[in-house]
Amino acid sequence: MASYRSITWMGDRLRLLDQRRLPAEVQYVDLATCAEVAGAIRDMAVRGAPAIGAAAAYGLALAARTAPGGSPEAALAAVEEGASLLKAARPTAVNLAWAVERVLSRARERPWPSAAALAAAVEQEATAIAQEDVDTNRAIGRHGLALVPEGARIVHHCNTGSLATVDYGTALGVIRAAHEAGRNVHVYVDETRPRLQGARLTTWELAQLGVPHALIADGAAAHIMRTQGVDLCLVGCDRVAANGDVANKIGTYALALAAAAHGVPFYVAAPTSTIDLTTPTGDAIPIEERDPGEVLYVGETAIAPAGTKVRNPAFDVTPARYVTAIITEFGVVRPPYEEGLARIIDLARAARSQGGVR
Ligand code: MRU
Repeated sequence: MASYRSITWMGDRLRLLDQRRLPAEVQYVDLATCAEVAGAIRDMAVRGAPAIGAAAAYGLALAARTAPGGSPEAALAAVEEGASLLKAARPTAVNLAWAVERVLSRARERPWPSAAALAAAVEQEATAIAQEDVDTNRAIGRHGLALVPEGARIVHHCNTGSLATVDYGTALGVIRAAHEAGRNVHVYVDETRPRLQGARLTTWELAQLGVPHALIADGAAAHIMRTQGVDLCLVGCDRVAANGDVANKIGTYALALAAAAHGVPFYVAAPTSTIDLTTPTGDAIPIEERDPGEVLYVGETAIAPAGTKVRNPAFDVTPARYVTAIITEFGVVRPPYEEGLARIIDLARAARSQGGVR
C-alpha cells in the first residue's frame, strides 16, 4: 500500500491529501461539512473517479452528522440535499453518482430510530465503499497482469494510482502489479495537459514505487510509438457506456488513435462501478467543461495573450472499436462489449448480494 492516503475518515471529518499542491507540498485538508467535500471535488483537491466516489460517500456521512433538527427525518433530508450537491460537483465520472446512490439507498432502507442511527449507517456504507475500492484495485491489478509482457514499454495517461483511488490504483495498479511481479516494465508518462496529472502526480507515485519511467509531452506519444516501440497503452476511465465507449481524461482518444495506427493494444482499467449500462453509447456521456484559466495559465504564468478564447473539455470519449479490452475486478472484458459488460455487471451484482467484492 502507499505510504500516503488520498482519503482518510477521521470519525468526525474527512482528511484529503490536497492533490492541487503535489508534488511541491504534501499537505492535507480537513473537511467538516458536505458542502466542503463538494467544493473539494469541484476544485480537484481530490480527483480520479473512484476517489471522488469515496469522498462523496463520506460527504454524505458528514451531511447526516451535521444535520440540524436532530430527527431521523431531518438527517435523511440533509443526506438527500447533500446527494444533489455532490452529484453536481463533477458530471463525467459515474463513480460519483454510483457511490452517492449507494449511500442514499442505505439511508432510505428503513425508518431509523434516531438521527444517530441513520448517521452510523451512512458512515458504515461510506467505509464499505472505501474498503472495497482497495480490494477492487488489487483484483484489477491481478487480472491486468496477464496483459503485460516481460520488459513492456507502456504509455499511461493522466493519473490512475493511489491518489486517484482509495489505494493501489486502477491502470497504475496494473503497472504496479507488473512491477511487483518483476516484469521490468518501463512507463512513458503522458504529462496530461492542462491539469498535468501525469507530470505532477503519476511521476510522483511511480518514483515512490521505484517503477522506471520517463515523462513525455502528450503530443510525443505517437512519435515514441513509431520510433522507440511501445507494447501497450494503459489508461483509467471515468465512465464506460453499455457499448464499450469509454470516457477518460482529455487526450485519451488521441492516444487511442495513435495506438490503433501503430498496432499497439489499448487497455482500459475500470472497476465495475465505472460501467454505466444506463448510458447506451459515449455520445450520451456528459463531458465536463472546466475553467478557461486551466488552459490559459500554468501555475500563475499566463501562456497565451489576454483575452484568448478557450475550449476546455476535461474528458473525451474513445469509441469502443479502439479499445482492445477493459480490465475489471471480475476479469478482462473483450469485444463484443454489449454482452461482456452486461455479464460482468451481473457478476458484480451477484458478488455484492453475497456480501463481498468478489
Ligand atoms: O480530472 P481527473 O483528474 O479527475 O481525471 C481523472 C481521470 O481521467 C482518470 O483516468 C480516471 O478518473 C480514472 S482514475 C482511477
